[in-house]
Amino acid sequence: MVFDALASGYDLGMLPLEVAVLRRMRRRAFPQVAGRVLEVGVGTGVNLPLYPSGATVVAIDLSAPMLRRARCRPARARVRAVQADIHHLPFRDGAFEVVTGSLVFCSVAEPERALGEVYRVLRPGGRLLLLEHTRGRGPGAWLTDRLHPLWLAWNGVCHLNRETARVVRQAGFRLRREESRILGIFRLIEGEK
Ligand SMILES: C[S@@+](CC[C@H](N)C(=O)[O-])C[C@H]1O[C@@H](n2cnc3c(N)ncnc32)[C@H](O)[C@@H]1O
Repeated sequence: MVFDALASGYDLGMLPLEVAVLRRMRRRAFPQVAGRVLEVGVGTGVNLPLYPSGATVVAIDLSAPMLRRARCRPARARVRAVQADIHHLPFRDGAFEVVTGSLVFCSVAEPERALGEVYRVLRPGGRLLLLEHTRGRGPGAWLTDRLHPLWLAWNGVCHLNRETARVVRQAGFRLRREESRILGIFRLIEGEK
């Protein structure tokens, strides 16, 4: 898997984006969640220190090297890291009160199927909270459409112009909030089952 090879340099490579935009968006989103939480595509675990102490977080990722790093993150919440594929989540229907994820649906192979699984494991009324980069708006749409083929050819996995909020709605979620930064490219997407 592509992310196995990226794990060791991932945090350093992401640092400029974290400082420019992501860190602030993460801090707006993830400290607010509580209860039984599933984080999908946890990667090196950047969000784990942000969850409050009352939360119980199951964090999944397909990449074992990414998960090894996530397991070393300090956290106030109770965290269990599990290797799993988002397309086949090993949890019962309605097992979680909240599902979170960041920068995941740009790189999963089948976002529709993955969001269907997320919908299944959320309890009715449960919250979905995503921080994603997506197809931009206005000039941002032009930019992400132009850059997408080159970017995908270079890294082999990450799509720059996915319409993730639309796929969230198609999976059955009610869209509760959508905030965007930098030409609509970075978005906080909140849905409810
Ligand atoms: C761009 S990284 C984002 C990591 C982290 N969430 C963050 O915000 O920095 C995408 C993560 O999604 C994981 N991923 C990709 N496809 C997956 C799948 N089918 N099932 C579970 N995790 C997957 C990758 O292994 C990687 O760790």
